[in-house]
Amino acid sequence: MKWMKYSYSYCVIPKRKSIIMESIRWAFNTRLWTPNKADWMTALSLIQPEEKERIGQFVFRKDAKSSMAGRLMMRKFATEVLGLSWSEAKFQRSEKGRPYLVNMPVQRSGVDFNVSHQGGWAVMAADVGSSIGIDVMEVEYSGGKSVPEFFHTMRRQFTSSEWSQIYSFNDEAGQLASFYRHWCLKEGVVKALGVGIGFELQRVSFQLATKTLPVNKITADTRVKIDGSFDDCWQFEETLLDPTHSVAVARRYDSPQTGIRVTELVPFTQLSFDDMIASGEQLTCPDETMAEELVKKEETPW
Ligand code: COA
Ligand code: MG
Repeated sequence: MKWMKYSYSYCVIPKRKSIIMESIRWAFNTRLWTPNKADWMTALSLIQPEEKERIGQFVFRKDAKSSMAGRLMMRKFATEVLGLSWSEAKFQRSEKGRPYLVNMPVQRSGVDFNVSHQGGWAVMAADVGSSIGIDVMEVEYSGGKSVPEFFHTMRRQFTSSEWSQIYSFNDEAGQLASFYRHWCLKEGVVKALGVGIGFELQRVSFQLATKTLPVNKITADTRVKIDGSFDDCWQFEETLLDPTHSVAVARRYDSPQTGIRVTELVPFTQLSFDDMIASGEQLTCPDETMAEELVKKEETPW
C-alpha cells in the first residue's frame, strides 16, 4: 500500500468562494485488526449511541469490526479534515440508510463522503464538488453453486454488454475479477445516488477501457451509459487494494466532465486503528459488557 498524502480538488461552489479539500481515500484492514476488550471499550465509547447499539447487535464479529471501522473513519474525517471537534460532529442516516453529517460546516458545503466494508477491508472516500459512492468487494466466490450457476442467478443485475466484458475472459478467475469490478462500479453509482435496493441496475451499463485492474494503481478511464447514452457527469476511480479486493469510487458531478487529471488521482492510504482514533473523544460511557460480548462472538459464520 502506497503511503502518500493528499492531492487537491478545486471546485467552485455557486455563490460561495472556492474551497480546497484533500481528496480522501482511506482503507483499513479489518482482517488484521484483532481488538481486545480494551480496544472494543475504547472504540464503542467513541461513536454515537445508536450506532454503538447497532454494532453490538451483529451476530459475527467481522461485521461489527467492519461497521465500527466505517464509523471511526467518518468521525476522523469530520474532525481532522472538516474541522469539527469529535464530539461536535453529528451523523444521521437518510431514509435509505446513507450516513450524512448533520452539521456540515457552511464553508464545506459541497463536500460528500461514503463508506464501504466487505471482505478484509473498510474504505472511505470523500471529495468536494460531486456526490460520491464507494464500494469494495472481495474477488472470490465460495457459495455452493458453480461460477456459471452463480452468474446465471445474477444475470439481471448486469446488461448484455457488461456480460460480454465479463465473459471476454476465458478463465473463471478473470471472469470473477471482472464481475466484481462491475459490481463495485454499479454499487458505487447506487451509493453516490443514495438510493439502495430497488434501483433498476440494468439502466446503468459500464464500458471499461482498461481490461484488468492493477494493484494500488488507479484506473480512471471507465465510462458509463445511463439508459443507453454515455453520461460524462460520472467519473470513476478503480483499483485493487490487494490482489483479491476490488474497489470503485463513483463521482457524480452536476455537469459533464472533460476528464480526470491524472495528477489528482489519490491512492488509498492505509490507516491503523490508532490513526482512526487519534482525535477521538469519549461520547458514551465505557461499556464493558458489550465489549466482552464482542470479544466472545464468532469472527465469521465459517
Ligand atoms: N447509500 C449510500 N451509502 C449507504 C446507504 C445508501 N443508501 N446505506 C448505507 N450506506 C453506507 C453506510 O455507511 C454503510 O455502512 P454502515 O451501515 O456500517 O454504516 C455502508 O454504506 C455499506 O456499504 P457496503 O459496505 O458497500 O454495503 P453493501 O454493498 O452491502 O450495501 C447499500 C450497499 C446499503 C447501499 C445497498 O445499496 C444495497 O444493499 N445495495 C444492493 C443493491 C444491489 O443489488 N447491488 C448489486 C450490484 S450488481
Ligand atoms: Mg458493498
